[in-house]
Amino acid sequence: MSTEKSSRDDVAAETARLGAMLAGKGLTPDQVATLMRDEVQPVLTDAVRRVETGATSSAMVRARIEAMSITSAHSMRFHIRRASLDDCVSILEACEADVVDFETRDLLSGALPFPIFLALDTRGTVVGALEGDFFCKSGDGWAWVFNIGVAEYARRHGVGTALLRAFSEAALRAGRTHVALRIQDGDGMEVRRVFFRRCGLSSPDDDDTLAIGVLADLE
Ligand SMILES: CC(C)(COP(=O)(O)OP(=O)(O)OC[C@H]1O[C@@H](n2cnc3c(N)ncnc32)[C@H](O)[C@@H]1OP(=O)(O)O)[C@@H](O)C(=O)NCCC(=O)NCCS
Repeated sequence: MSTEKSSRDDVAAETARLGAMLAGKGLTPDQVATLMRDEVQPVLTDAVRRVETGATSSAMVRARIEAMSITSAHSMRFHIRRASLDDCVSILEACEADVVDFETRDLLSGALPFPIFLALDTRGTVVGALEGDFFCKSGDGWAWVFNIGVAEYARRHGVGTALLRAFSEAALRAGRTHVALRIQDGDGMEVRRVFFRRCGLSSPDDDDTLAIGVLADLE
């Protein structure tokens, strides 16, 4: 088999493998198609061209493909910022897409009664969001998280941790001492416990649905 034929076969096999891997990460068919078109295919096409022009070897192509597949499997580029009134529509869209499960009544009337933090990908799509309040009526110095959610396909990339950290940092700046939340019961409760524990929050002995963290101690 010629080097060109073998590298094309490598690329075809790798394209199929990457497509299946991305679909397995919970991406929709449209998202897989976009990622394959914008990020995966250009790299593979360039690799084949380099083999065909003798600029590189088939082994090198395999190495490049491997490096790229590791990158695409583990990278999720996002940034966190506080939401403004201009974000109401995007947040509603995130609720529609089941990224988060916020109370939408205020959002529908164009209001943000509580602070919301957003995680946005490089295309500006909301991949995660957190809603909470720094100044709850109890006046106990606690900042409360009401809800946090991350799109299924974007989980396990640090988005939830980054959202909680952004909220906690803002709460600390606002003079709060603790961050607290009620762990939602039902399916996935154990995952939520692990996640909040990993973020430095813990439950008191007499109430395992409460998770609390001392803001000054959180990284
Ligand atoms: C809980 C949730 C917000 C976590 O978001 P996330 O972006 O996936 O979390 P992170 O990537 O920051 O995870 C940080 C750590 O938490 C733990 N963790 C998170 N999800 C986990 C899972 N499914 N299984 C085991 N551990 C998990 C891991 O230790 C992880 O670190 P690692 O990936 O390096 O091992 C997300 O799973 C989610 O949106 N769930 C549905 C909504 C929900 O339950 N909201 C909470 C309401 S109280």
